[in-house]
Amino acid sequence: MTGQGAARPGIIVVIPARMGSSRYPGKPLVPILGLPMVEHVRRRALLSEGIDSVVVATCDLAIQQVVEASLVRLRVEAIDLLYQHRVDPAVPIEDVAGAVKELIRAGKVKHFGLSEAGAQTIRRAHAVQPVTAVQSEYSLWWRRPEEEILPTLEELGIGFVPFSPLGRGFLTGKIDETTTFDRNDFRNVVPRFTPEARKANQALVELLRTIGGKRRATPAQIALAWLLAQKPWIVPIPGTRKLERLDENIGAADLELTAADLRDIDRAAATIEVHGARYPDSLEQMTGR
Ligand SMILES: NC(=O)c1ccc[n+]([C@@H]2O[C@H](COP(=O)([O-])OP(=O)(O)OC[C@H]3O[C@@H](n4cnc5c(N)ncnc54)[C@H](OP(=O)(O)O)[C@@H]3O)[C@@H](O)[C@H]2O)c1
Repeated sequence: MTGQGAARPGIIVVIPARMGSSRYPGKPLVPILGLPMVEHVRRRALLSEGIDSVVVATCDLAIQQVVEASLVRLRVEAIDLLYQHRVDPAVPIEDVAGAVKELIRAGKVKHFGLSEAGAQTIRRAHAVQPVTAVQSEYSLWWRRPEEEILPTLEELGIGFVPFSPLGRGFLTGKIDETTTFDRNDFRNVVPRFTPEARKANQALVELLRTIGGKRRATPAQIALAWLLAQKPWIVPIPGTRKLERLDENIGAADLELTAADLRDIDRAAATIEVHGARYPDSLEQMTGR
């Protein structure tokens, strides 16, 4: 986790506020570890290249410090929606929710969000501090949230924010097996973006083109309109660096797919096998906690 103001590179080493062990149930961790241990953690972290400062903090203090630094950088008095990106398995979610609750009480944060959290984590967090939104990947080529997450959110009254709603650009039809990405582009390491997978997955783009042809809309607009049609509390966040694409994507909000369109899309999509994992294994393991 980075923090410590804008200029100096620094890290905050987060340790849980409470121990889960039966030896020290519910006890604050810093007194248990003792100062020598905290100093040891601090020194080890300082050995990391390019790190100038290290703060060892319990979860609530770390979150507080990150928020304070964000408020300064953003020049706002409160953060509208503070997400935890990703769930940290080393820190009980109740501690995170409790820390955010304090910040909401102090007027520094307005709403609490989680990203790629599992259903049980969402429930546990929500019991401490109501969760306003969950942000996870969801699109025509990644529909896992439909299994457990969407029903849970509906039950609890939590909004859903699909990220990568255009399949990282693939569902727009502007990417095929000949497309090359910049050296640092994340898609170079995504199994779903190997040239072979891109070739196989064109079937999904063809479906969007066909529906788009009928509705005079682009594949990107159909992909977004499909998400918007799923539930009124679903708000996708497509990303683009180009103004004309921003206009195009916003156009999806005015495109209402009919029940017949949605049926056609679902029926056709069910026959298409999507090739390649959405993440390399190491990243997939950080989700759904
Ligand atoms: N919570 C998380 O862990 C997480 C993870 C990933 C992403 N996100 C967030 O989700 C948002 C969007 O996700 P994303 O950028 O990964 O994927 P995305 O919105 O599915 O796709 C973005 C890609 O599509 C291209 N694009 C956008 N509109 C287009 C159009 N109309 N026609 C053709 N190409 C188009 C963009 O290229 P150009 O820029 O060249 O237009 C970009 O390469 C971002 O705000 C991101 O921060 C969150």
